[in-house]
Amino acid sequence: MKPFQPEEAKAPFAPDIFKGQIFTGQVFLVTGAGRGIGRLLAERLAALGGHVALCDLVPERAEEVAQLIARQGGSALALAADVSREPDVQAAVAAVLARWGRINILINAAGSYGAAYRVTHETPVEEWDQVFASNVRGSFLCAKAVLPHMVAASGGRIINFASNAGRSVSPLLGCSYTAAKTAVIGMTRHLSREYAKHGVLVNTIAPGPVMGERVSELLQDDADGAALNAQIPIGRLAEPADIVDVVLFMASDASRYMTGAILDVSGGLILA
Ligand SMILES: NC(=O)c1ccc[n+]([C@@H]2O[C@H](COP(=O)([O-])OP(=O)(O)OC[C@H]3O[C@@H](n4cnc5c(N)ncnc54)[C@H](O)[C@@H]3O)[C@@H](O)[C@H]2O)c1
Repeated sequence: MKPFQPEEAKAPFAPDIFKGQIFTGQVFLVTGAGRGIGRLLAERLAALGGHVALCDLVPERAEEVAQLIARQGGSALALAADVSREPDVQAAVAAVLARWGRINILINAAGSYGAAYRVTHETPVEEWDQVFASNVRGSFLCAKAVLPHMVAASGGRIINFASNAGRSVSPLLGCSYTAAKTAVIGMTRHLSREYAKHGVLVNTIAPGPVMGERVSELLQDDADGAALNAQIPIGRLAEPADIVDVVLFMASDASRYMTGAILDVSGGLILA
């Protein structure tokens, strides 16, 4: 079947809101940076002056993005890691520290997902485990690995990726995804309370459906896409840039008084 490609649902042109070298000297670790939102985010952070370590389960993806950033004059390091494996995460963090000596901001964008529209009683336990491993265990392991360094530095930021699924119920994916993203929200709240006294701010973004490779893979045809679009009050799925701009705000000094926040960026899908 033809993958969903919405002609009518394009975002209006938005000039880059964040400009200049606002992240000069800041060291970022972005997981899941080989594709989609994480990829665009890594490119934008580097363009704004940050040093960006990109980690992905698929090494070629991280490598390709790092090379692109380098060609554009940015500072990037590609890392192959499965965030659900503690030795991989520790090695990735050690590599970032070896290169730049610190990690200022961790962005946990990595995460996998199961089949679209699969009901719970037909969900293999392997899907449940994999979705939890990449989204929940992975975000926990990355936080665990960077926190000692942030505490020692008396500051840092962790930005997690939840979803509209974790704020309500996924309209597309199954129970495993809804439950995993709800857990990411709980983890964000807990970490924010625990580490505020160390100057470490922990927040999560909860995007609504984004028109990228993932949703394109999941939606089988135009009818699926139209049904999803119809649920979104703004009338279109997000473009990756709609999400990335909010993460740039969350990484910037503009959000210095914010911790434990869950930011819904869902075109009005989630109202809470
Ligand atoms: N796309 C959406 O509609 C949407 C909506 C809400 C939330 N989100 C969340 O935003 C984040 C990014 O979404 P996206 O659409 O850009 O994703 P994507 O599927 O396009 O890319 C995710 C990347 O993460 C990597 N990855 C997966 N498991 C990994 C693991 N165990 N270790 C390391 N890397 C791993 C993949 O290889 C891939 O490159 C995810 O956490 C996702 O759940 C996405």
